[in-house]
Amino acid sequence: MNILILGSGGREHAFAKKITESSLCKQLFIAPGNAGTSNIGTNVSISVEDFDKIKDFCINNTIQMVVVGPEDLLVKGIYDFFQNDNQLQHIPIIGPSKLGATLEGSKEFAKEFMTRHNIPTAHYQSFTKETIEQGKAFLATMQPPYVLKADGLAQGKGVLIINNLQQAQDELEQMLINAKFGNASTKVVVEEFLSGIELSCFVLTDGKNYKILPTAKDYKRIGEADTGLNTGGMGAISPVPFADEDFLQKIETRIVQPTIKGLQQDKIDYKGFIFIGLIKVGNDPYVIEYNVRMGDPETEVVLPRIQSDLVELLKATSEGKLANFELKITPQTAVTVVLVSGGYPENYQKGFLISGLETIEESIVFHAGTSQKNKQIVTSGGRVLAITSLDNNLVQALEKSYKNISKITFEKMYFRKDIGFEFI
Ligand code: AMP
Ligand code: GLY
Repeated sequence: MNILILGSGGREHAFAKKITESSLCKQLFIAPGNAGTSNIGTNVSISVEDFDKIKDFCINNTIQMVVVGPEDLLVKGIYDFFQNDNQLQHIPIIGPSKLGATLEGSKEFAKEFMTRHNIPTAHYQSFTKETIEQGKAFLATMQPPYVLKADGLAQGKGVLIINNLQQAQDELEQMLINAKFGNASTKVVVEEFLSGIELSCFVLTDGKNYKILPTAKDYKRIGEADTGLNTGGMGAISPVPFADEDFLQKIETRIVQPTIKGLQQDKIDYKGFIFIGLIKVGNDPYVIEYNVRMGDPETEVVLPRIQSDLVELLKATSEGKLANFELKITPQTAVTVVLVSGGYPENYQKGFLISGLETIEESIVFHAGTSQKNKQIVTSGGRVLAITSLDNNLVQALEKSYKNISKITFEKMYFRKDIGFEFI
């Protein structure tokens, strides 16, 4: 098969690696890709926003499957664009329809979906500028901390957790009246704060059947011991040590099954990944959010644990045949540690030479923000590399990644030295 991956991060490099390992893959293209994907496939310099260019590329290169990395393309309706085009509708897209992607694109839509299908989540109400006074009154009935969520996509910045009532009411006003997050905050979901430990569950569905992929936990804060600014993710581990059989069973029966059934009942076309952000409150799982794609850097620990052929798995997904698919997962632990540009997630410089990559042994280097310049690899983003290792336990896997990281250098390189810290 000729396969096209859309995106350019560590997630897409992890997809590319696993896809090229399949005997079903004839040619792999990645648009736009990075220096890592260019070593195993062909990078295509088209903007993923430009659906018409993607169409031409797919036709000219006889693409037989498209794997979509980032959510914004799904929210913009790339699935529907293919479905509605005579020349493209035979090409399966791994990713949901525009309506399905609304589970990530609108927090209110996701909350209504969960309420309708009895999926455990925090109590909430949503407000617009017309109902701001009710919103302030609702906040006054709640206990701190207060959780305010911009309804739309806000590059991971749209959730505010505030301890003081007056401040929460002021922020609600900033969001609704002063468009703090632009159009994303024309509606705001105000919800109950849930106290517990977070983890993520990944599901692949063909719309009727599903396979549960390995669980993972990511480390979002820039600083050690989970301090400082939020980032896209500084590292991840899989499996999640506290998610035992009993807890996983609760996730499956209370959350995954009603979610898949809900998609069918609501006639939502969905053939792709669902990334369910969960919180364990006492011994019970609650949904914090749905994402309609794989996570980054979670993909860099989830895919390396999958032993089955990924292209066969994705083909079964697109053909509605997941029920009969035997998914093989290694019991080993996977960890990834992300190397970032100094200054990230705020301002940082790019273009620094990366050295030491050829010396890496026993870890997988996934490229995120890298590019090729005069045959050398240089930094080109905030998150630069993700160093993944597999071993029999967390400590050994971490040792491998950190040992290899000590051989990699680029100017102003930074990484967290405590990934997985709370489980050691
Ligand atoms: P989200 O963008 O929905 O993933 O939210 C960002 C982060 O805010 C989550 O990863 C949680 O750490 C936190 N969060 C969101 N909703 C809640 C809630 N209801 N209770 C506690 N923490 C929350
Ligand atoms: N690592 C979090 C995300 O991909 O949204």
